[in-house]
Amino acid sequence: MANIIIVGTQWGDEGKGKIVDCLTEKSNVVARYQGGHNAGHTVVIGGDKFILHLIPSGILHKDKMCIIGNGVVVDPLALITEIDELKARGISVTGNLKVSKNAHLIMPYHVLLDGWKELKKGSKKIGTTGRGIGPCYTDKASRAGIKMLDLFWPGQFKEKLNTNIADINCMLEQIPDVKKLDADEIYNKYISYGKQLEPYVDDTDITIDEAIKSGKNVLFEGAQGTLLDVDHGTYPYVTSSSATAGGAMTGLGVGPKTIDEVYGVAKAYTTRVGEGPFPSELTDSTGESLREKGAEYGATTGRARRCGWLDFVVLRHAVRVNGLTGLIITKLDILDDMEKIKVCVGYKFRDALLRDFPKELPVLEGCTPVYEELDGWRGSSTAGVRSYDKLPQKAKDYIGVIEKTLGVPVVIVSTGQDRDDIIYR
Ligand code: IMP
Repeated sequence: MANIIIVGTQWGDEGKGKIVDCLTEKSNVVARYQGGHNAGHTVVIGGDKFILHLIPSGILHKDKMCIIGNGVVVDPLALITEIDELKARGISVTGNLKVSKNAHLIMPYHVLLDGWKELKKGSKKIGTTGRGIGPCYTDKASRAGIKMLDLFWPGQFKEKLNTNIADINCMLEQIPDVKKLDADEIYNKYISYGKQLEPYVDDTDITIDEAIKSGKNVLFEGAQGTLLDVDHGTYPYVTSSSATAGGAMTGLGVGPKTIDEVYGVAKAYTTRVGEGPFPSELTDSTGESLREKGAEYGATTGRARRCGWLDFVVLRHAVRVNGLTGLIITKLDILDDMEKIKVCVGYKFRDALLRDFPKELPVLEGCTPVYEELDGWRGSSTAGVRSYDKLPQKAKDYIGVIEKTLGVPVVIVSTGQDRDDIIYR
């Protein structure tokens, strides 16, 4: 294997958790580089379901090092809970889970601010996961953030926390019926979280560097997806981190030359959770049937995902901004019942036909998708197929159209929830 970045090509939920879990077999280290517990990765092993939010899904393999990088925002209680749940199910995390000292911490006021800002936006709300992700990254960028390492420098931690709480309490005074925050209470809680997390806290940039220098393979795990990236997504309807491949460099402290491959994960159709433009969305019974058959409900919030056809305008953008060298198509089996399958090949806006993903929100909101219709493979199932030759010809044709349109090879196809329902090409 090589050093590979796994990145979402759509609006997240492409099935990266399962792919990372499968590719971990051939890796030594799995490293997460951005986002927080807004992500939800579902992995099914022999019928047992695991949902991970912060810890890379590689943890489900023995003897693999899992890293939570400096680019991730960590809610310490969420991390402790996830560690405890894994331990309770017999999964060892001791010695093989490392969390960057430089990771910023989600504080209780970030969660409050997330909710408050959404409320104020009314109909223009982002539809965040409400986990405090945006406000935590805001503090990081504005140099008011609290890092994992601060928990081990109590004086410094107390000073930063007191300054932040004083600011927040000034703001809270303006909100009726909201109790002011107690800095001491938060301080004591977080010091206790620090004690519990101490065995995992690490100079992860050095650990990764040493691993790479000693010839080990690293899998870089992206959360969310390209269209939720703060720079390259449908801003402002995005998350607050760099979900694209570039984020792996800054979010872990590695150089671009360490990367051998960048694989983009795409669902065989498209979904989105939260607000914001989605040109190939289906609000009819076809969208409904994709949602039901694909169990398209958020792993983190349980929200129903919006569903639509595969969108080549989105994928072309993802190929470019991530420099994809391979594509991974997931949930192909969800299309099994379709007589016809549509693919979006462009957007029509006023008199123009757009092939490149527009950056302007009014264009994205006002465009209409232009489709090509392909034959489905109804009657012959792809579910659980584990060799490419055994796929129905029309399903192979669908994969062929994706490769030809995007000029990137499809290297893996996933045909079901289980770890073994996968085709490597
Ligand atoms: P936040 O990341 O909670 O701030 O939410 C910002 C936007 O990103 C919202 O539309 C969320 O629904 C979306 N989002 C965040 N994490 C995920 C994810 O893991 N999968 C899909 N959508 C996500």
